[in-house]
Parts: sequence; C-alpha cells; structure tokens
Amino acid sequence: MTVWNLGSVNADMVFRVPHMPAPGETLSATGYQKGLGGKGANMSVAATRAGSHVEHIGAVGEDGLWMKERLAGYGVGTTHLAELPGPTGQAIIYLDAEGENQIVLLAGSNTEISEAAIASALEGARAGDIAVFQNETNGQQAFARAVKARGLRLAYAAAPFDAAAVAAVLDQLDILVMNEVEARQLQDATGLAPEALPVAEVLVTLGAKGCRRFDTVSGQVQDVPAPKVTPVDTTGAGDTFTGYLLAGLDQGLSMEEAITLAQKAAAVMVTRLGTADVIPTRAEI
Ligand code: ADP
Ligand code: NA
Repeated sequence: MTVWNLGSVNADMVFRVPHMPAPGETLSATGYQKGLGGKGANMSVAATRAGSHVEHIGAVGEDGLWMKERLAGYGVGTTHLAELPGPTGQAIIYLDAEGENQIVLLAGSNTEISEAAIASALEGARAGDIAVFQNETNGQQAFARAVKARGLRLAYAAAPFDAAAVAAVLDQLDILVMNEVEARQLQDATGLAPEALPVAEVLVTLGAKGCRRFDTVSGQVQDVPAPKVTPVDTTGAGDTFTGYLLAGLDQGLSMEEAITLAQKAAAVMVTRLGTADVIPTRAEI
C-alpha cells in the first residue's frame, strides 16, 4: 500500500550564534549546518524508514533540487513533488549558546502547490492506501476532499496549529494528531474536548509522558507511555511519531500497536541532533 503525504519541504539553515542578534546588529555566526526539514518531508522520511512506500505531494523551488534528490535518495516517491520557479520553503534558525532558538520561516513553494496536481496525483491511489497532511502547505481542503472521494483513511497532524485550518477539514478526518498545546488550543477555539471531536481517532502526544488515545467511536481513552530516554533534541519527534504511526497503520498494525511503534521511533529521535536526515530506521528501533 502507499502513504500519500501532502507536505512541506524546507531547507533548515541553522546558524550557531553567541547570542541572539539585536535590531541593527551584525553578528558573526560560530557555526552553520544545512539540512532537510519541513514537517512534510520529515513525515515522508519517517514513514519510508518505517518500511512503507510514500508518495510525497508538494513542491520545491529552483533552489530545492538537492532536497528533491535527497528525498528520492531516502526512497521517498517524488513523482508528485513539482519543481516551481521561486524559492523553496526555508527555515533560518539561530541557535544560541544556551540552546535557545529563533526561527524565521519562508513558506516559498510549499504554498504554491497546484490543486489540480494534488487531485491528479491522487488518481493513482488504491483502496487501502492512507493519507496524511499538515498545516505547512496550501491545498489542504482540496487534498482532504480528493482523499475522501477515493475512500482512503485521512490523518491530519494539526501543526503549526491554526484553528481555522483544522475546522475546515475536521469533518473529513479519520485520525487527528496533536500535541498537548495544540489540543488545548483546539478546545479553546471550538469548545470541544478531544473526546467530543467528530474524528474517530484523536491522538494527543504528551512529550516524555507518551500519548493519549481517544477512540471517540467506543468512547475509550487509552494512555500509551513513551520509552524513557535522555533527550538531546526534541526537534522532529512529533513528525517521526506521525510518520511511523501512518506506516504502522499502512502495514496493518492496530492503532495501539502503531502508537507503540511510533513512540519507540520518536524516543530514538529525541536522542539525536537534527531532523529528516537523522530519523531512525525500523532496524535501529
Ligand atoms: P511535538 O514534538 O509535536 O510537540 P511531543 O513533544 O508531544 O510532540 O512529542 C511527540 C512524541 O515524541 C511523544 O508522544 C513521544 O512519543 C515522543 N517524545 C517526545 N519527547 C520525548 C521524551 N523526552 N522522551 C521520550 N519520548 C519523547
Ligand atoms: Na532530534
């Protein structure tokens, strides 16, 4: 089966700085690292490392060919990753000596994706495939409609959180993944607690505390603890969780088994510096 991911692709450019620059200040960086990132790309790599076939739907700009090639090199399907004029999405990240960060995000080609291309990509979907998207691209409603028209299961990772974006697709979702903060924001915006949402499976990730699963059909609430590790860098943990979760479900695991697998992968991820490039393989977990 295939995991269809409408997702962002970003160049993460990390500048190490002695302190955050003040307005008007020119500051010398003490280090620089460029990596593949973006919630979409992270999830595609995670699901692929978990052993599933992923088709990534999205767009890179004229500076983004290396990112498309890297995704393809990791085994992600890139047939539906368009090459557009203009810049690819990018994150300029300042990381200071205390580990604090400051991030400027440019959406670039991630918000220039053709809705017609999304619909035509999904013509290749088969019954039993599963689909996922996040809030870093345009075309979310078109994707949700096309996915549901083909009868696939649809998962949404509600990040970066935007209440209007979630509300616009909520009725179409089968699975909703949020962290604790996002779940609270959604409840504040809609008045609905996780168990009252019109989505069959609502998963709230709780960092080191693991994941709470709301099976809203049976009304069952289940806590799945996370493995204990010493965290080094939690960047990409949520994306690794979701990518592995989708791959687990794609491979026929139950929701509980898929959550357990996803948490093992996410726990390894928090012990590593970096994003897409360091997501663990199935063999490593
Ligand atoms: P996000 O990174 O999206 O904010 P969380 O912080 O809730 O989301 O983390 C997502 C998942 O990553 C958790 O459900 C857990 O499985 C794993 N995780 C995150 N932090 C830790 C940690 N300190 N120890 C073990 N697992 C963790
Ligand atoms: Na990490």
